[in-house]
Amino acid sequence: MIQKIKGTIDVLPDETPLYRKIETVMREEAKNYGFGEIRTPTFENTELFERGVGDTTDVVQKEMYTFVDRDENRRISLRPEGTASVVRALIEHGCQSEPMPLKYYYLISCFRHEAPQAGRSREFFQFGAELFGADSPAADATMIALASSVFRRLGLSGITLHLNSIGCKNCRPNYRSALVSYFGSHREQLCDTCKTRLEKNPLRLLDCKSPICSEIAKGAPKTVDYLCEDCKKHFNTLTRLLDGMGIAYVVDPAIVRGLDYYTRTVFEFIADGIGAQSTVCGGGRYDGLVEELGGSPLPAIGFAMGLTRVILALRAQGIADPTPDVPRLYIAALGDEASVAASVITERLRRTGAFVECDLVGRSLKAQMKYANKIGADYTLILGDNELASRRAFLRDMKNSTQTEVDLDTFTLP
Ligand code: HAM
Repeated sequence: MIQKIKGTIDVLPDETPLYRKIETVMREEAKNYGFGEIRTPTFENTELFERGVGDTTDVVQKEMYTFVDRDENRRISLRPEGTASVVRALIEHGCQSEPMPLKYYYLISCFRHEAPQAGRSREFFQFGAELFGADSPAADATMIALASSVFRRLGLSGITLHLNSIGCKNCRPNYRSALVSYFGSHREQLCDTCKTRLEKNPLRLLDCKSPICSEIAKGAPKTVDYLCEDCKKHFNTLTRLLDGMGIAYVVDPAIVRGLDYYTRTVFEFIADGIGAQSTVCGGGRYDGLVEELGGSPLPAIGFAMGLTRVILALRAQGIADPTPDVPRLYIAALGDEASVAASVITERLRRTGAFVECDLVGRSLKAQMKYANKIGADYTLILGDNELASRRAFLRDMKNSTQTEVDLDTFTLP
């Protein structure tokens, strides 16, 4: 028996209504905040992620699904995230000449070869939003407000916003030197990857998952102590905006994010009670990425939230799945002729947009009625020889136990 690949998920019809509900909320909130949907390919040139996400990040070094294309000697990767692709598309389609800001959202699957556990899979689903062309703290507040509004509309509580600033290209060099000197004094204890990171990209030393490195990282210098005046001002205005909007947050110097493109504001929404993989949403500003990927300089900020983790949080809080749709009508039939008529009438009613069912598996009349009850049909209608001859039958309201006589060829559902 062939089974699904480790770390992938099947979503069966009893669970899809919950996914759809969440996706609908996400789409509606994105629309209210003025975001248009963007769809980009599932796979891209590997170089896009190496340059965009960063070739010393765990995501690129250890987690990407990369293969060589069949007809060209080109390295291709399944997307591990959405931001780099959105930026590529924006540059490729010349969107930078449009009036700013540009606001895009996406609902996509992403792929990362991580150790599967609750809330962490190798194919996972993200709702993401990206805003380009605004460097104001109000843009940061808008993005955080959008993410919060999704959680609020889903009825989720127990989610804390963790906020930090990791500085800009002006203050980063000082911070970088402080990190190099701190981790340099622990060099011998670091894992091999981190020894390389010490030379190439010291900021990534802060998110190494190995126990020794992460213990050492706890004592590392904090970005907040190295911010330039502009970055401090940006961060202070953002916190004032969030205060004014009534969005609670904690300033958390430990939030540095695992991807290379971030500048200034970074944030994560962390949910209670869903285990170790508790970051339901992560994002931040990335003012250098558009230029890094070949566009002209363009400030940007965005976030992505993981659908599976949102579902875990909904379940942990006992928020019920939406009730599945039930048929308006079940047409039961006795005998071959009546079965044919049931199928024809069912099709006529479905063309009017109604959810109607009839028997397809040859159940007895008694079993058909039992089944109609089980699936919770609002109405039933029984077809036998008499009904076929008179072209009339009784439409039974299952809730009120009342019935009305209808013309088989013309009736519609109340
Ligand atoms: P990220 O933090 O790598 O950021 O992922 C965003 C969210 O995706 C996480 O907070 C988590 O909810 C979900 N997620 C990540 N990996 C997994 C996994 N293996 N299984 C299940 N869920 C997962 C980004 O991807 C950035 N592109 C976000 C962003 C957009 N920053 C700016 N714009």
